[in-house]
Amino acid sequence: MSDSAALNQRFGIPGHISFKETDGMIVAEIDNLHAKADICLQGAHLMHWTPHGQPAVIWMSPAATLAPGKSIRGGVPVCWPWFGPHATRTDVPGHGFARTVMWEVIGTKALEDNGTWIALRLVPTDATRAQWPYPSEVVLQIAIGKTLDMDLGTLNTGSEPITIGDALHTYFTVSDIREVLVHGLEGTTYIDKVDGGSYKKQSGPVLIEQEVDRVYLDTSGDCVIEDPGWQRRIRIAKRGSHSTVVWNPWFEKAQKMGDLGENGYRKMLCVESTNAANDIVTIAPKKEHHLWVRYSVEAEK
Ligand code: BG6
Repeated sequence: MSDSAALNQRFGIPGHISFKETDGMIVAEIDNLHAKADICLQGAHLMHWTPHGQPAVIWMSPAATLAPGKSIRGGVPVCWPWFGPHATRTDVPGHGFARTVMWEVIGTKALEDNGTWIALRLVPTDATRAQWPYPSEVVLQIAIGKTLDMDLGTLNTGSEPITIGDALHTYFTVSDIREVLVHGLEGTTYIDKVDGGSYKKQSGPVLIEQEVDRVYLDTSGDCVIEDPGWQRRIRIAKRGSHSTVVWNPWFEKAQKMGDLGENGYRKMLCVESTNAANDIVTIAPKKEHHLWVRYSVEAEK
């Protein structure tokens, strides 16, 4: 039996979730009363979430490719067990390895509100243990419904404390980047990565008019992406995260990246719920840390 046939037998739920093979990858496809979504098992990478009757909420690059060991450009990359470059090593990937390794499905269910739930666990290998030799278990739970809920849980299974950074590096779809505003970060301090890492203070909502790569500190409240072009607001609620990254590479950097698609930067905005910079998390033995988000769409007021 193929891998996808075995997964369908064990975890498929008619009217909710099925598994298929695409470009050599296994993808969980969700189609329920609320929305369509899909998740690549490599990276536990949610690629799309489109509530019925809405433009896509999660952006996927038209130039994205699915390839073994390569992160997918768009969707919700899972950054774990560190965010950005590793603190001391240069031989390991930025944003950690979780987004490029295999995860296994450990459960699915139909929810009472007609949503669909799936849980995936990272599969440790010799290669991951060489980068992260600490006993731990990481599970991503995703609920696809009227809202998109994601919970990235890290359990310290060892007898010493462990320290992690992580993120749900979400790419949101916008009608036109030049028109949108991000609310919820007013008055907060941020590290400006396009200005040598200098510390600045946000005044008013965030407007994107050039390359933006910022780590907003001490941020635990909701952010709202106001998108007048589609008369909608995307609300980002979170727990277990006290920093927020706002990123858009703008034209020149996007050209160099090569996998954002023509003018792709105009249609996307990353608002990432993170444990980044000084916001790293120490987990005591046998304890867990959860980074939880809820994305919802509201009509513009
Ligand atoms: C953001 C970082 O989180 O991710 C940026 O703040 C980085 O500095 C961006 O360029 C994309 O990273 P990657 O590894 O997916 O190209």
